[in-house]
Amino acid sequence: MSFKINSYEDYKKQYQQSVENPEQFWSTIANTFSWRKKWDTVLKWNFDEPNIKWFVNGKLNITENCLDRHLATRGNQTAIVWEPNNPNDDTIKLTYHQLHQKVCEFANVLKNNGAKKGDRICLYMPMVPELAIAVLACARIGAIHSVVFAGFSAKALADRINDSACTLILCSDEAFRGAKTIPIKNVVDEALKNCPSISKNIVLKRTGAKVEMINNRDVWWHDEVKKVNSECVAEEMDSEDELFILYTSGSTGQPKGVVHTTGGYMVYTNYTFQNVFQYNTGDIFWCTADIGWITGHSYIIYGPLLAGATTVMFEGVPTWPDAGRFWEVVDKHQVNIFYTAPTAIRALMACDIDFVNKHQLSSLKVLGTVGEPINIEAWEWYHKNIGKTNCPIVDTWWQTETGGIMISSLAGITPSKPTFATLPLPGIQPCLVDAAGNEITENNVEGNLCIKFPWPSMLRTTYGDHNRCKQNYFSTYKGKYFTGDGCKRDENGMYRITGRVDDVINVSGHRIGTAEVENALDENHLVIESAVVGYPHDIKGQGIYAYVICAKEVNEQELRKELLEHITQHIGAFAKPDKIQLVSGLPKTRSGKIMRRILRKIAEGDTSNLGDTSTLLDPEIVKEIKNNAL
Ligand code: PRX
Repeated sequence: MSFKINSYEDYKKQYQQSVENPEQFWSTIANTFSWRKKWDTVLKWNFDEPNIKWFVNGKLNITENCLDRHLATRGNQTAIVWEPNNPNDDTIKLTYHQLHQKVCEFANVLKNNGAKKGDRICLYMPMVPELAIAVLACARIGAIHSVVFAGFSAKALADRINDSACTLILCSDEAFRGAKTIPIKNVVDEALKNCPSISKNIVLKRTGAKVEMINNRDVWWHDEVKKVNSECVAEEMDSEDELFILYTSGSTGQPKGVVHTTGGYMVYTNYTFQNVFQYNTGDIFWCTADIGWITGHSYIIYGPLLAGATTVMFEGVPTWPDAGRFWEVVDKHQVNIFYTAPTAIRALMACDIDFVNKHQLSSLKVLGTVGEPINIEAWEWYHKNIGKTNCPIVDTWWQTETGGIMISSLAGITPSKPTFATLPLPGIQPCLVDAAGNEITENNVEGNLCIKFPWPSMLRTTYGDHNRCKQNYFSTYKGKYFTGDGCKRDENGMYRITGRVDDVINVSGHRIGTAEVENALDENHLVIESAVVGYPHDIKGQGIYAYVICAKEVNEQELRKELLEHITQHIGAFAKPDKIQLVSGLPKTRSGKIMRRILRKIAEGDTSNLGDTSTLLDPEIVKEIKNNAL
């Protein structure tokens, strides 16, 4: 492809072009895709409203770019390799022809069940090929997919369905996850008690467990597929038509539905996929994320398929049946590019090295990480034991809101530096700002990370509440997109993301708002008030520390059990606090604001300097909390 960067010099040249003439830069790249009608204007934007439009009035369907345009050249090449949870079960391989056929077929199922362009469709499914098929089928007919990670509780699922008034839901009977099965359909049934907008639930048989099917609402996937043919002309979409909604946590309130649109997202995910990973035709690419998160959207489905790559989809977990599972899959499918999260690396590092050494890993060429800062020990272990010291590691910084990778080295092309995401991709103009909101222009500094100029796959709004988008991302620093991350820039202009500077925590790569956990805790009848903060955790990156004021005398053991169960019900098991400390009060300012800075320090075990506590409503409470810290 013409936009492939193949040297450091080339990177510098492309970067400069992308800043000097962004419109020309991106239109050259966009021209390599298949459009029904080209755009009139490349970019219209302002960051105040915000209002961002890329490839204005362009018409296309993203699935024609992911599928149809590959049929003539690589129809018989494998598009998706699916590795099941249980290593003894069969792998499934779908060629581009087969995937195209299945997507068209399921698009017809969606239409038969009343779905049409602009409808929101919720997907609550295990990591099976049908999930990727269904995502693409939504895009084929112009319906907006909203994938909800299948670890969320019924309540969290219902909130997400209701926020965007989804009309259809797709689920399975159950899911396999390591040695466990997860009762997907039961969770959906529970959620749908409170979701009046849903008219149909299409249920995939995965484990074969007996589930209750509700008349006029629930239909079986396999029955529906039998009723349709596999001809489906793709719906013509505007470049700025919504492609998907993906809910993510912010520092306040309920999760927000980040909205991505069609043309820009397509161009950027493909561009970054090819350049960051230095993808070459024929490479086997494996991203271990779940499709329920942005990484799965952009680098299991869209980025690789747009590039005509072979993408691996894995249903299981890294540690079952044993801690060698990832490496077994790498050898089995001869994976060339492997992309995972630091938390998985740290978990596997803690296991016997024989689980790694049993496997060859000789197919690997490039390694990637994403989702949280990688510590030097994990970086070195990954480099030495998995990459055998000859695979470049790309540490890719980005977010649900950015749609694609923003700051990263390009594998083997641009310089890398352990624990640094390094340099911005062409088209990305990062800047650091100080506490007063001024841009810091020199190097060897630290500040809050912002982006100064639009890029094609940036979020356009938060579903149903544009003002929230404006407040969250575009109001803190005028004229800039604020990421919520703190960041260092070294003497050579390389970036190192240090973590969130807002009340968002990152637990095993899962993004969780402390306010969300607090709201859930506060709803429990035993809790009067709570405060939640993150603290450093060896494996998870951050753990959740909850301070709880109880309504009555309770047995601590029982309270803990009750609250963990409560969080599992309200959010999902991944948001369970690691530590719960009973307190008689919380450190508050005279205006009633909780002093989280103090609680964070105590949770981190750093109580030597808690700063000025004299302005607190009740300074004594700090002593009590400190003395009883867990
Ligand atoms: O804090 C940053 C961290 O993950 C946040 C975004 O989370 P989410 O929207 O769930 O998307 C995760 C996958 C793209 C960021 O604000 N983060 C992501 N990648 C990195 C990272 N922190 C440090 N280094 C990274 N490579």
